[in-house]
Amino acid sequence: MAKIIVVTSGKGGVGKTTSAAAIATGLALRGNKTVVIDFDVGLRNLDLIMGCERRVVYDLVNVIQGEAGLNQALIRDKRSENLHILPASQTRDKDALTLEGVETILGSLSEEFDYIICDSPAGIERGAQLALYFADEAIVVTNPEVSSVRDSDRILGLLSSKSRRAEQNREPIKEHLLVTRYNPNRVDDGDMLNLDDICEILAINLIGLIPESEAVLRSSNQGVPVIHDDKSDAGQAYADTVSRLMGEDVPLRFQHVPKRGLISRMFGGGGRR
Ligand SMILES: Nc1ncnc2c1ncn2[C@@H]1O[C@H](COP(=O)(O)OP(=O)(O)OP(=O)(O)O)[C@@H](O)[C@H]1O
Ligand SMILES: [Mg+2]
Repeated sequence: MAKIIVVTSGKGGVGKTTSAAAIATGLALRGNKTVVIDFDVGLRNLDLIMGCERRVVYDLVNVIQGEAGLNQALIRDKRSENLHILPASQTRDKDALTLEGVETILGSLSEEFDYIICDSPAGIERGAQLALYFADEAIVVTNPEVSSVRDSDRILGLLSSKSRRAEQNREPIKEHLLVTRYNPNRVDDGDMLNLDDICEILAINLIGLIPESEAVLRSSNQGVPVIHDDKSDAGQAYADTVSRLMGEDVPLRFQHVPKRGLISRMFGGGGRR
């Protein structure tokens, strides 16, 4: 039986797709059979970040509507044989997804995979609710700003009231906080919320802290999930996050502005990648 993990947020553009791609890739690199599903019907971003957009023939909606089998729509990742992608449709409207259709697909994938990662669309509307409905665990992606934290709180409300686990009165969805685009310089300047405040407001377990990083844009332009860039700060932070998801105890990094040594203070430079 696969573990179903939804990557969600209330606010848009916080880094869900970046995180879903990196975490799914990381789980696969660690030997887990993993599939990542794009629930963002109409936008279709995940295949770009995974670098497989030219291979998309059939998508999630085709499978739900019986126009293609699951195996026709699944795309095998170029770099990891443990990883598959189920893309979203760019053309259909969001109503093309049905609860029964999603349930059938997740049921079939569950037999074959260890992890199913669901990349949710933004908001708290139907698409986002479908993406989280069957989840066992949720990664709530949050940026260090008030609007993002507030919208994450709304999603936490949905997770505990509108999921199948909630409806069936089962053990609740395990919630994890992933803070992304964290810039300790701007936190120190008071422009952004600091990590402790975010953790206190949302009061869920912190699974990772991803710094604001140029490596993310560079990787997504190349269609390579940033976790493959193991020299970059963001790549390392996602690798730590995957380790924690797999139950390992890994210390938190990238929370503070790195202390500069004497030489770098005298001669300047020494910026992070
Ligand atoms: N750690 C980071 N550092 C710098 N830029 C980042 C980081 N994470 C994400 N971004 C950038 O933020 C933008 C939004 O990221 P992404 O598409 O992953 O967000 P999303 O939550 O999936 O958006 P949507 O709600 O539209 O689906 C992208 O341009 C991405 O490159
Ligand atoms: Mg997205």
